[in-house]
Amino acid sequence: MKKILDLLSEEMGKAFEAAGYDKTLGRVTLSNRPDLCEYQCNGAMAGAKKYKKAPIMIANDVAAKLAESDVFQEITAVPPGFLNLKLSKQYLLRVMNTMRTEPKFGLEMPQHPQKIMIDYGGANVAKPLHVGHLRPAIIGESIKRICRYAGNECIGDVHLGDWGLPIGQVITELQERRPELVYFDENYEGEYPKEPPFTEEEFGVIYPLASAKSKENPEYKARAMEATLKFQSGVRGYRALWKHILDVSKVDLKKNYDNLNVEFDLWKGESDVHELIPEMVAYMKDNGYAYISEGALVVDVKEETDTKEIPPCMILKSDGAALYNTTDLATIMERMRLYSPDEIIYITDKRQELYFEQVFRCARKTKLVKPETRLKFLGHGTMNGNDGKPFKTRDGGVMKLENLIQETKDEMYRKIREGREMPEEEALAVADTVALSALKYGDLSNQASKDYVFDIDRFTSFEGDTGPYILYTIVRIKSILNKYKEQGGTLENLTLLEAGNQSEKELEMALVQFNTMLLSAAEEIAPHKVCAYIYDLANAFNHFYHETKILAEENAAKRESLIALLALTRDVLETCIDLLGFSAPEKM
Ligand code: ARG
Repeated sequence: MKKILDLLSEEMGKAFEAAGYDKTLGRVTLSNRPDLCEYQCNGAMAGAKKYKKAPIMIANDVAAKLAESDVFQEITAVPPGFLNLKLSKQYLLRVMNTMRTEPKFGLEMPQHPQKIMIDYGGANVAKPLHVGHLRPAIIGESIKRICRYAGNECIGDVHLGDWGLPIGQVITELQERRPELVYFDENYEGEYPKEPPFTEEEFGVIYPLASAKSKENPEYKARAMEATLKFQSGVRGYRALWKHILDVSKVDLKKNYDNLNVEFDLWKGESDVHELIPEMVAYMKDNGYAYISEGALVVDVKEETDTKEIPPCMILKSDGAALYNTTDLATIMERMRLYSPDEIIYITDKRQELYFEQVFRCARKTKLVKPETRLKFLGHGTMNGNDGKPFKTRDGGVMKLENLIQETKDEMYRKIREGREMPEEEALAVADTVALSALKYGDLSNQASKDYVFDIDRFTSFEGDTGPYILYTIVRIKSILNKYKEQGGTLENLTLLEAGNQSEKELEMALVQFNTMLLSAAEEIAPHKVCAYIYDLANAFNHFYHETKILAEENAAKRESLIALLALTRDVLETCIDLLGFSAPEKM
């Protein structure tokens, strides 16, 4: 099924044509005066010049042609030349029935599905996840789900930072504590133990300690850098430790991402491409893209049209070491070889924007990608505290993601306990589910590039533009549907009738916007559009609910039709929250 606005525009275009005007003037949009009409068309105004006629005359001609149309119930030409439109209930019913019967609510699938790789999450091995990792994880997850739902093939990759200094720091601290470990014995030639030489708990304290020492003590830092170089260059014992650290870290990261309902198709990282780097460097040199500047190997990426300075992209430092750039470019090379994506989308903090601009230009210039490959960067803003500064713990430290999630769960549990009778265990489980909605919706309802304030009180509220409000609405619908079943009704083969009252019609009109919303959310990689849509939909539903007898409706056919409407509303809402990466409980 086409988008509703396209369907209406087609109908309107036919009327323009029948009245002797250009059919492209028949573009229909949502009304910006909902008090007067539901949709509108301003084509008569646009055509006035071309046809040398007063717009109202054109509008009148077109309105006359639509008098017989069963799509519109009301067409009014109003000065100076607007066409104000109201949909007919029977037409709305037809669209609703298509939504109810076709897969994905009648969403049109693309003729050429795209292969899209989404690089998000970006956790760094050895370091615990902190609140800064929340946004790329949940925004990326949602974008992946939205683009996939829109009919594309999507591959999500966590792209771990697993090749850098933090690991060297952990190794250094380990050596401080246990120099006798076989990994540090240069003469050892046997197999290394399968079990890591540290417990998970110990691992948790080692990194913060090592990182602090590194900051204070230059000699310690030099050793950490040396250890980094050793594991990178393949010194056996160091490489074996690197592998232990990677494995232990991944278990912990998986647990954290699982808790957030974030799942990656690929658990690759910077380390996966280190063997590709020499080949890539040789290729860039041989083809004259890269040259030595002040000892370093660089590729120029500035362009004539630049208004700000874009520095060259550094491929190797003067000591021959690879950089963040280098692994990102080699990763592009690997991705093209293994997956050949049409598009790669990167989601990180917007402070990496210039960096990605350089990387993208370099990849294009050196032809690591095809001319038509799209490289997109979505930079997100920061999550701030009430003081407007990046969110911190009460004592000013960096907050671990785990703790932020726990705090949200605790607050949600408190609110659920207030005034609700629910067994303890159930309350805890419900609090977990609802807390995730609070956290994710609180984030995703903002345009990704904007900063926002983490306001736990507002995010966990059951009222207003929040995750819990959306879930509350879904649970309300589910409970009515359950009662209907308890009373002997079934949800199979329901027949929907034309809308009765105005609030019912408005609910239907909100539902039929689904396609338009989804395609634009996918095209603009904008999860906030899904949030805005379900907020409007939930409001339309609650308004309808307060004005309409549902289970108490005496006319059985009408009652069945209302139930059909509820079932569709529930399905659309549940589909949308799944696209945002959370789910609704049965009760709350
Ligand atoms: N690990 C990086 C960081 O913490 C984020 C990785 C983003 N993805 C990428 N391909 N560079 O900043």
